[in-house]
Amino acid sequence: MTANVPAAPGSRIFDIGCGPGTNVEHLATGVEYIGCDLSRRYIDLAEQKYGDRAKFFCGAVGELSTRDLGEFDFVLAIGVLHHLNDDEVRTLCKEAGHFLKHDGALISLEPCWRTDQPPMERFFTALDRGEHVRRVVEYVSLVKPVLPEVETSTMDVRDVRLPTNCCIIKARKELTALVESGYPPQYDDGR
Ligand SMILES: C[S@@+](CC[C@H](N)C(=O)[O-])C[C@H]1O[C@@H](n2cnc3c(N)ncnc32)[C@H](O)[C@@H]1O
Repeated sequence: MTANVPAAPGSRIFDIGCGPGTNVEHLATGVEYIGCDLSRRYIDLAEQKYGDRAKFFCGAVGELSTRDLGEFDFVLAIGVLHHLNDDEVRTLCKEAGHFLKHDGALISLEPCWRTDQPPMERFFTALDRGEHVRRVVEYVSLVKPVLPEVETSTMDVRDVRLPTNCCIIKARKELTALVESGYPPQYDDGR
């Protein structure tokens, strides 16, 4: 997580679908973390184990924007999108956009189908409890209309018992890369 979520001290992270809160273990000191999940049981476990370092609340995608949580540098949805139908993914992206700072990013890591997937990995991907495992382009087609600057990469997860293919989706609401590279141009006459 640390490689894909470069959260420096002072950064704020909102983890949607945080489960029992294990992502807290990867946080650098000084990073503020708020996690939410629809499971009361997971939130209780998270509070017991990490409540001294992070805040948690029970809440589901679709009811998050009404919360007064402030703005975040990163919104995480790790292993969550493949449990959500298309409308719910769009809603999660809108909620992420609501909470992200102008240059903040939604980071997601999801199992995915690949055309070149070896049979064993395809088999284990099919066993996933999520009912909406997608191809990378399908994840992107849902995220991009809401958070237009989308980058993806894929990784093979082999350090767990079951080999699977995952994709990392990083999405921002503003075309920051263009802005950072000098767009829009500055004219001498002040236009
Ligand atoms: C595979 S677990 C991932 C947990 C955690 N993100 C992690 O990285 O370990 C998926 C989590 O998404 C949560 N979830 C599923 N649908 C949700 C929804 N509509 N709103 C909030 N959380 C949801 C589940 O309760 C579960 O904890």
